[in-house]
Amino acid sequence: MRIVLVGPPGAGKGTQATRLAEKLRVPHISTGDLFRANISQQTELGKLAKSYMDAGNLVPDEVTIAMAKDRMEQADAENGFLLDGFPRNVSQAEALDELLKTEGIKLDAVLDLEAPEEEVVKRIAGRRICRNDSAHVFHVSYKKPAKEGVCDVCGGELYQRDDDSEATVRTRLEVYHTQTEPIIDYYKVQGLVVTIEAMGPVDEVTQRALKALKREDDDK
Ligand code: AP5
Repeated sequence: MRIVLVGPPGAGKGTQATRLAEKLRVPHISTGDLFRANISQQTELGKLAKSYMDAGNLVPDEVTIAMAKDRMEQADAENGFLLDGFPRNVSQAEALDELLKTEGIKLDAVLDLEAPEEEVVKRIAGRRICRNDSAHVFHVSYKKPAKEGVCDVCGGELYQRDDDSEATVRTRLEVYHTQTEPIIDYYKVQGLVVTIEAMGPVDEVTQRALKALKREDDDK
């Protein structure tokens, strides 16, 4: 399956993408994680991306589209992928359409995760991420690690993302409303959007997503 996940910062895209990718046996491609990997490796792309990310703004389309394209063209994405955080504006959605057209493939669905603003702000404020692997995500109240500040999975140090400060989160939400939300209408025209409620326990949200994608049998 080829799926795009969309939703405000903190809606649980990364959390759900990890679980859905495993169940659907496709790679989870997160442009945010790709940028963060570049930042920790101190690449030129990482240095450029950091200045935009720390301010809560989108990284310029040109470098973002090239990075996403490069990742989607890797062998593990040949039979499907789950895109998390890309596309993030209408130009990126158009670029993705062009790319898929060239390859003769289509998206199966755009999964829109809905959550109220006060909830996403709480989720982001309490989020802690492992320095070794950004897929290891915790929350100070909703998903506490057994030992404070230590990743349950690999023992790595847990940290708070630089762009998770309250002021930056407000900018990210504004950017989401003005630049990312319009892609929902863009994909509605193509009949691809399935909207689910992202509130409640993580497992329930996953079940809702699989049901919406008509893949309940994968929830085993
Ligand atoms: P990115 O990394 O994509 O961040 P985001 O979209 O702002 O989303 P988040 O990662 O903040 O949240 P999430 O929805 O994944 O939530 P999560 O599952 O972690 O992008 C960061 C930046 O990179 C952008 O601002 C931009 O600068 C740049 N960028 C990235 N892609 C780009 C692009 N295409 N173009 C240009 N720039 C780009 O969950 C949050 C917390 O809630 C966690 O602690 C989790 O444990 C908890 N949680 C999750 N689900 C639940 C639940 N059901 N109940 C209770 N708690 C929950």
